Amino acid sequence: MRVKEFLYGGDYNPEQWSEEVWEADMKMFKKAHINELTLNVFSWAALQPSEDEYDFSKLDKIMELVRANDIKVMLATSTAATPPWMAKRHPDILRTDGNGMKRKYGARHNFCPSSPTMRKYAPLLAQKLAERYKDYDNIIAWHIGNEYGGECHCDNCQKNFRSWLQKKYGTIDELNRAWNTSFWSHTYYDWDEIQIPDERSENFISEGGKKITQVQGQFLDYKRFNSDIMLEEYRLERDAIKKITPDIPITTNFMWFFYDLNYREWAKYTDFVSWDCYPHYDTDPAELAMAHDLIRGVGGQKPFALMESSPSVTNWQHINPLKRPGQMTLYSLEAVAHGADTVQFFQMRRSKGAAEAMHGAVIEHVGLAGTRVFDEVEKLGSRLEKMNEILGSTVPSEAAVVFDWENWWSIDALQGPNELLDYKSECINYYRAFFENHIPVDVIGLEDDLSKYKLVVAPMLFMASKDYAEKIKDYVRNGGTYVATAMTGYVDKNYLFYQGGYPGPFKELFGLWVEEQDALAPEAPNHFEWNGQEYEAQLICDQIRPLSELKKLIEQNKKELGDLAYFKSPAYQISEEAGDMTVDGTYTDDFYKGSPVITENAFGKGRVYYIGTQSTPDFYKSFMSEVTKKAGVKPAAENVEEGVEVAVRENENGRFLFYLDHKNNRVEIKKA
Ligand code: GLA
Ligand code: ZN
Repeated sequence: MRVKEFLYGGDYNPEQWSEEVWEADMKMFKKAHINELTLNVFSWAALQPSEDEYDFSKLDKIMELVRANDIKVMLATSTAATPPWMAKRHPDILRTDGNGMKRKYGARHNFCPSSPTMRKYAPLLAQKLAERYKDYDNIIAWHIGNEYGGECHCDNCQKNFRSWLQKKYGTIDELNRAWNTSFWSHTYYDWDEIQIPDERSENFISEGGKKITQVQGQFLDYKRFNSDIMLEEYRLERDAIKKITPDIPITTNFMWFFYDLNYREWAKYTDFVSWDCYPHYDTDPAELAMAHDLIRGVGGQKPFALMESSPSVTNWQHINPLKRPGQMTLYSLEAVAHGADTVQFFQMRRSKGAAEAMHGAVIEHVGLAGTRVFDEVEKLGSRLEKMNEILGSTVPSEAAVVFDWENWWSIDALQGPNELLDYKSECINYYRAFFENHIPVDVIGLEDDLSKYKLVVAPMLFMASKDYAEKIKDYVRNGGTYVATAMTGYVDKNYLFYQGGYPGPFKELFGLWVEEQDALAPEAPNHFEWNGQEYEAQLICDQIRPLSELKKLIEQNKKELGDLAYFKSPAYQISEEAGDMTVDGTYTDDFYKGSPVITENAFGKGRVYYIGTQSTPDFYKSFMSEVTKKAGVKPAAENVEEGVEVAVRENENGRFLFYLDHKNNRVEIKKA
């Protein structure tokens, strides 16, 4: 999506109102500098009253009115909430949850992605919309469905899971190998024996109260499948539209760090990415900033759309405080600072009834311009009109943090060593160090090209293929700096553990062997010394040995047990030139006091750091500040007051620095 002016607007549901209201709304939108409306997000039941009957008369009027007012449209396909009649006549469209309970009609985001009814009627509606409105040149984008997510465990989904597996593995033997089914008598002889892992099959509640699964490889495949099957439904709608309007960009609205769907895969089928940003009142500013960078990253570091945000309150959070004066502006400009070329709200007018009547809107129930919220929206609108030279720019990052959905799922599914290990928070911990040091950073996936980065940080990369390890070796060999942490390099893509010592394919690069890992309760941390200071070692404490100790152990085993074929396995071949890491930090307590926890290793022209534990924000900040300095990664600004975020975008028009004052310090920025 390449726009000439900031798109400013959001979700508008005129179908809930009468025409006099529409007319007043248009005037108020003009006043507030609104130039975009996202229409038709939830109108399926009205557009298709029955099997063969369609009624676009109201939408026609709305489309006309909006065009006549010279407002751009993101036109949604309305397929995120199914009509009640459809569920009654075609119950296959309803979802079944993990307990096997078939749902009745209700709520939204309620369709089964495998449902033949959904797969017939949703793309058909998309097609009809595209045919009808294709000549509206104010349609700036298509918005498919809405906030895809969830799971369905019905028989149709079960069948599709089996065929997905069959396509992936070819033979049942290969599946048995990949899932290690000789464990607990799980050997499958027929595809029909395979179940979706859920409450009725592989799942159980752990001692710590966490939902866990018994066959990790199967769970991981199910997560992949579920993301794919939802994507398949999205793609049916997308393809139907592309045939008719190939030049109008297509998107669907993503959400925050959203566990269910692998957005990196999804983004491949969008023309630009967009997302709905609803921070809680106590959301960590680093998490919020990272969420923007995550979304920009899945979209290939190109500008994205801030598809939804609340101009004031939400209604669905536990507690929904008002956004303080200036806070909506701050959050909106923060999105822009991280790469958004739009600022869009949910919603333009507060609805009269049902779930979202207490959700903030540009026009609230009082129905007038000039409210506190409206005024701030109006001011921001006029401000954005003066910022158009930023459009299309990118964030010039020299560093990247890896965030990978499959690793998120993998750490979540792991039984042991410590249920409190959390992939997402550890990624945020490292991101926060960049954020607090005012260093622009990209959030990337495993497939991304690393050549533009001086530094890559990949926390808890538990699942990594040998190919990925080779890619990292090349990157470091050529001068890159790489930071890895505890829980790296344990399993391959099938969730099968590497033999011959952790961290599997990274041993030689890191110059170390993790012999064991101690798990700690949160209230009983260990400690370590680094750079003359003591820090906490939390939750996990790797027992790190120099790689040469592993080599020695292999030799000793050969001597004692005989030079068996067993030792010819690639697991026991360690390259002659692989050296030992140097120790930067050691534990201070317990039986492993004095042993390494922070290490570094020179490799080719580059360098690798390994942090064998988790720690506190002050450690991450100091540590990453050192590492970035050594790697030549520069902050966007220095001597910045506490609580102020600095972000930067760059294009042919210049370098744009954003100072975002999260603490309302009213800081004065002096021009350099
Ligand atoms: C989501 C949905 C919207 C609306 C908002 C409310 O983002 O996409 O339809 O429900 O939440 O915050
Ligand atoms: Zn289903």
